[in-house]
Amino acid sequence: MNDTPAKILEVRNVSTSYTRKSPLGKVKIQHVLHDVSFDLYEGEALGLVGESGSGKTTLARAILGFLPKYEGTIRHFSERPQVVFQDPYTALNPAKTVEWILGEPLRMLGIQDAQARRQKILDMLIKVGLDESYLSRKPSQLSGGQRQRISIAAALIMEPRFIVADEPVSALDVTIQAQILELLARMKEEFGLSYLFISHDMNVVYQLCDRVIVMRKGVVVEEGDIDQIFDAPRHPYTRELVEASK
Ligand SMILES: Nc1ncnc2c1ncn2[C@@H]1O[C@H](COP(=O)(O)OP(=O)(O)O)[C@@H](O)[C@H]1O
Ligand SMILES: [Mg+2]
Repeated sequence: MNDTPAKILEVRNVSTSYTRKSPLGKVKIQHVLHDVSFDLYEGEALGLVGESGSGKTTLARAILGFLPKYEGTIRHFSERPQVVFQDPYTALNPAKTVEWILGEPLRMLGIQDAQARRQKILDMLIKVGLDESYLSRKPSQLSGGQRQRISIAAALIMEPRFIVADEPVSALDVTIQAQILELLARMKEEFGLSYLFISHDMNVVYQLCDRVIVMRKGVVVEEGDIDQIFDAPRHPYTRELVEASK
C-alpha cells in the first residue's frame, strides 16, 4: 500500500522580522523567523518545540492569518484551523456564561434553533469531560483545567479538521496537564483531527505528538519522529531541550 495521507498545511520559506524604534528614533530590526519550511499531514500531531522567544507564537500567528507581513508562502488545504491558547482566561469572554461562549460559534454557523444549539453544547461539554452544571458558569467560576476544557470545546464545536494549540498546557499544574493532554489525544481520535501543537517543553510534546520540529531563534534546527528526537537527538540544542524536560 502506498497511501500517503493528505496534506493539511504547507509552510515554505517563511521569514519575518519585527521593527522597533528606540527612544532616540533609531530603527531596530529583529529577525524572528528565518526560512521556515514544513508540511503537516492529515491525522498527524506535529509538535513545534523551542525555548521561549524562539518564534513559535509568531509562526502560529502567520499560520492563523494574524501576522500582517511575512515572506514565503503558507498554504492551507482544509478550512482555517481553530486555535487553543495558553491562557484560556484571556481567550474566553469573562462576562459570558459557558452556554453563551459555546453557543456563539454555533450562532455564527447559522444554527438559529436554541434547542438544537443547547443539545450540541451539552454533547460537547460531555465530550470534554464536563456536564450540564457548567452551562451557567462564567470563566472566573472555573479552574484553569476546566477553562482549558471549555476552550477546547469552543474550538471543536466548529467541527474543524485542524487545530493549532499554542502552549495549551503550559499554565497548568502537572496533573492537570496530563488530563488535558489525554483529552486532546482522545479528541484527535474521535474527530480525526490534525494538530500543530506548540510547547517549550519536550516532555509534553513527547506525550502527544508523532513528529516534531525543533526551532531555535527562528530557525528549524531539527525535524523528525518524536521517538528519534527524544531518544537520539542530533542537534545539540535538541539535546539540551530533551535534557531540560527530563
Ligand atoms: N508584536 C511583536 N512586536 C515586536 N516583537 C515581538 C512581537 N511579538 C513577538 N516579538 C518578539 O519576537 C520574538 C519571538 O517571539 P514569539 O514568537 O512570541 O516566541 P515564542 O512563542 O517562541 O516564545 C521574541 O523576541 C519577542 O520578543
Ligand atoms: Mg509563545
